[in-house]
This record gives sequence, C-alpha cells and structure tokens, in this order.
Amino acid sequence: MIKEITPVNNLKGELTIPGDKSISHRALLLGALAEGKTEISGFLPGADCLSTLECLRQMGVMIERPTETNVIIKGSGLNGLKEPSQVLDAGNSGTTARLLLGILAGQRFFSALTGDFSLRQRPMGRVVEPLKQMGAQISGRQSANLLPLAVTGKQLHGIDYLSPVASAQLKSALLLAGLYAEGPTSVMEPSKSRDHSERMLQFFGAKLHVDGLKVTVHPGGKMEARKVVVPGDISSAAFFIVAGLIVPNSELLIKNVGINPTRTGLITALQQMNGQIEVINRREEVGEPVADLLIKSSDLKAATIKGDIIPTLIDEVPALTVAALFAEGETVIMDAAELRVKESDRIAVLAEELQKIGGQVQELPDGLRIRGGRALRGSLCSSHHDHRIAMALAVAGLRTEGKMQIADFECTAISYPGFAEDLKRLCS
Ligand code: S3P
Repeated sequence: MIKEITPVNNLKGELTIPGDKSISHRALLLGALAEGKTEISGFLPGADCLSTLECLRQMGVMIERPTETNVIIKGSGLNGLKEPSQVLDAGNSGTTARLLLGILAGQRFFSALTGDFSLRQRPMGRVVEPLKQMGAQISGRQSANLLPLAVTGKQLHGIDYLSPVASAQLKSALLLAGLYAEGPTSVMEPSKSRDHSERMLQFFGAKLHVDGLKVTVHPGGKMEARKVVVPGDISSAAFFIVAGLIVPNSELLIKNVGINPTRTGLITALQQMNGQIEVINRREEVGEPVADLLIKSSDLKAATIKGDIIPTLIDEVPALTVAALFAEGETVIMDAAELRVKESDRIAVLAEELQKIGGQVQELPDGLRIRGGRALRGSLCSSHHDHRIAMALAVAGLRTEGKMQIADFECTAISYPGFAEDLKRLCS
C-alpha cells in the first residue's frame, strides 16, 4: 500500500499511546510460564506481539482475548509447554525469536523456529552461542546463526556471560534459559539495555538479582500469575514527539508513555537539542514508570549523540534522524552499528530514503551525520518493510514541500496498528 502524506499547518490535541511492544511480549511469555491466570491490560495488538501469542498457543498455552488489548493467559508453570507440531513462526519479530530461543533451549521437546524474509537474515548467533555454552542443542544455517533453527531441548547449566553487545533480547534470552538451568546464570552487558525482563521476572516472583550491569537469575523460584498493566510505548510516542517539535504552532499532550530510564534516551537527546518536552503526571504502573508528555514546537539545534545513551534510544534513531533534519547545524549519531541488524539496515535505509527528499544525511559505519535546515521536497519513498522507517518518513512528510508517498506503509501494523488514524486526527 502507498500512503500519501501532505504537509500540515500544525498538530494539536491529545493522544493515548498504545501498549509497549517489549513489555507486551514479556507479559505473554512470563504469563505462560507462571502458574495461574495472568491478566494483561493495555496489551499491544501489533503483529509482532501476536506472533509471540500464536507461538505460545502452538505450544498448548490457553490464551483468550476478551478485547484487542486485554489478554488472559492460563499459565501451567515452567514445565507446562507442549511440543509444537508445527514450525513456530516469529514473523518479523526479533524479540519473539530470540526470547523464545532461550525458553525452547531448556524444554524437554524438539521445536523448529522461523520468521519472515527480514528476520531470516538477522543474527541469531549472538543468542545461540551462549545458549550452546549452557548446553543447548541448536542447529541451522551458518552454524545456527540464521533462522530457521531446530532446537532439541536439553538440560541446561548456568553460565557467567560477558555480552559483547548491549542487547535486551540477548540478555532476556539467557535469563529465560536460566530459569531452566542448573545453577545461577549471569549476564553482564557493556552498557545498560532495556530492563523490562528483569523488572517483570521479579514481579512474577522469579529469583533475580541486579548488580549494576550484571544480572543473575537463580533457578528454582516459582513464578505466579499476575495482573499486568502495560504502559504506552515510548518508541511509538517517538514519532509524535518529533512531529510536535518540528511542525510549527503545534502542541500535543501524549498520554500514558512508559518512561523507564533504559528507554528515555530520545527525550534526553531532544531536550539537549532544545526540544520543549515536559514530563508531567509521573506515576508507576506495576513496576514501570509512566508519565504524560507535553510537546511544543521548538527551534531545534544539532547535537552529537553517542556512547551509553545509544541503547536507550536505539529504536528511536529513525525519528531522531528526522528531527535532526530540522535542527540547526550538524547532528552526528555514533556507536549505533546495531542499527544495521534491525528490521532493515536502518543506517543505509535512512540515508537512502531521506536523501530522496533532499535531506543531507550521510552514512557512517556506526551511525549517521545529518545536516539540518535544508528545505525538503515530497517524493516517492519506501519503508523497506520496516515499520519504524515507514513512520519516520510519514513524520518527515508533514514538513516537506509537496506530498510524500510511502510504499509498503502497511508494515506500521507491526508495532502501531492505528498510527495513520492517530496522525490524521491530530493534524490540521
Ligand atoms: C527489544 C530490544 C531491542 C530493540 C527491539 C526490542 C526487546 O533489540 O531494538 O526493538 O524487546 O528486548 P536488541 O536487544 O537486539 O538491542
């Protein structure tokens, strides 16, 4: 589907952000491994989370959805999963594939796991290698680096793992495998990645200890069903935060945004760029901090964004790059080579697509150099089947001369099914 975006005068009004993708995945997985009835509200009905839900159903987990955003899971404990009779399909979702690998490795059954065209090119070796050190038996193409993968469940043993990348998916996979291992399993990261797994494992009653960048899970703890309230996804809010800042005369109240400090790098970076973002009505929902954000149009200034902040804004780089196109001066984003192995090679794709509309965006090995302030012209662009690229291009299109056309726009449903409708409602 080709989506047309026309320039707008301003964005005004209120918006409630749909559920957090990372937290929705984890609520499903832990609900399935806990004992009893877990009730999730604020669940994100995005295609990625539905991939996790279907994989769990394939393993015999009873899951009901009384509404789109409410899910009830009848968990039957750590050893309640059943051998799936079909290949499990993670679709486009790296979180589904990597977290499930951690769980599947320690089961008493055989399973096979695959994904869509994009996911079948993304590295699984970063998870498979340490799982093998724990005793897992996993095979597939390129020494089990690529899906499809075959997993023969084994008795695992705990390891002390020094991770080469700050990846929450890798950390979470090992912690989940650690629930099935003999002895404790520790993961140490080079810098802090999102900590939703740690928070939720503790919330469900697992024995977990966090010491700075090191997390240790001890097997033998019993996980019990919980009521989980999923906050809104800051990665989805990101597109509206940037839209509100770059479109003149805008004022937006973005409600129900998860502001876990391992996720708020975009707010910090944009505030450093002179963006007017007010964090109001701070509260806590079952172990996760939440707030509303008040956004006002701003004269942005360039900044250099690198180092430990990068994992806390990694999914927001497409939105941040669009913001940088409207900032005075040269913005540099570095230490973000991980972007090359996301749903698309986001460094290459952002440079390619934003150059099409006249943006001065240069590819770096581990980031982007963006010169702001040039007039942009609407053009025919492609999402490269990447949901966050599609939404970032739509935000740029609010400020181009002439209309923007974005091919393959339907992929926004991966993380934000109602994005186009929400955008339309706020624009005038
Ligand atoms: C996620 C972790 C991040 C992020 C992804 C979701 C998660 O990936 O980019 O969209 O839910 O754990 P990495 O762990 O590979 O950095």
